Amino acid sequence: MPETPHSPPPLEVSAVVKSFSQGTTEVRALDGTELSVAAGEFVAIMGASGSGKSTLLHVMAGLAGVDSGSVRVEGKDLATMKDAVLTRFRRDRIGLVFQAFNLIPVLTAEDNVRLPVMDQPGSLEKARKLLDKLGLQARRHHKPDALSGGEQQRVAIARALVSDPAIILADEPTGSLDSATGQELCRLLRGLSSDEGRTIVMVTHEPAVAMWADRIVVLRDGRRLAEFATPAGHDPEAVALAYQHALHAPAGS
Ligand SMILES: Nc1ncnc2c1ncn2[C@@H]1O[C@H](COP(=O)(O)OP(=O)(O)OP(=O)(O)O)[C@@H](O)[C@H]1O
Ligand SMILES: [Mg+2]
Repeated sequence: MPETPHSPPPLEVSAVVKSFSQGTTEVRALDGTELSVAAGEFVAIMGASGSGKSTLLHVMAGLAGVDSGSVRVEGKDLATMKDAVLTRFRRDRIGLVFQAFNLIPVLTAEDNVRLPVMDQPGSLEKARKLLDKLGLQARRHHKPDALSGGEQQRVAIARALVSDPAIILADEPTGSLDSATGQELCRLLRGLSSDEGRTIVMVTHEPAVAMWADRIVVLRDGRRLAEFATPAGHDPEAVALAYQHALHAPAGS
């Protein structure tokens, strides 16, 4: 999928407002959010709990609609797509990794991975290749409850990659992993962007995870508070400092 200079960005969020009602009050989870992600770019989203990070990923995946503003994926406004078209578009173009792995308990690891492409030829082969790549070759016939948290997370990642998506959206993908396994996953994501040109948006609150991205966007109250290029050298302390600076700088700076 070579990009020409005229290709629209893979992800473009413009002036998005998204509210939820909580009892008698209304919460604006996204309040004029802007985000544009270039092809092959790896962006980390940081921000306090409740700042709208997961909601932003959900609207970019078309899992939730917006009240106003627009979400364009590869130039297409998700709001104009019919449900069935959106479902297929998401399956073909976007890999989703959430903290709750949503693995099917009665299926083996390899069947969980091939589920999204079960109807396509070669799905078993693809699933096996991904499981090998993620170091799970010895686990392919295990069901989720016989796998550790980190292994389950890797199965969920293999499932997200099986459709060969150009765009990967990951919500706290290292949340349940020990730090060594988490770093391995980060290197994998880094390679999917640098070596394979995939576009990645990852939510995390950990500087040691965010440091693998090209750019860090900080949300506060559903708005983009700041963004900065990831400091060189994969230095978690530099990321933590830049993040704290962004949180405490006057808004808009
Ligand atoms: N389905 C929902 N119904 C009602 N309120 C919601 C819903 N989803 C999110 N919210 C509210 O929207 C705001 C943003 O939530 P969101 O889950 O996007 O935050 P977050 O940045 O991902 O937080 P965390 O770091 O805790 O995961 C919060 O105030 C949350 O309570
Ligand atoms: Mg969240």
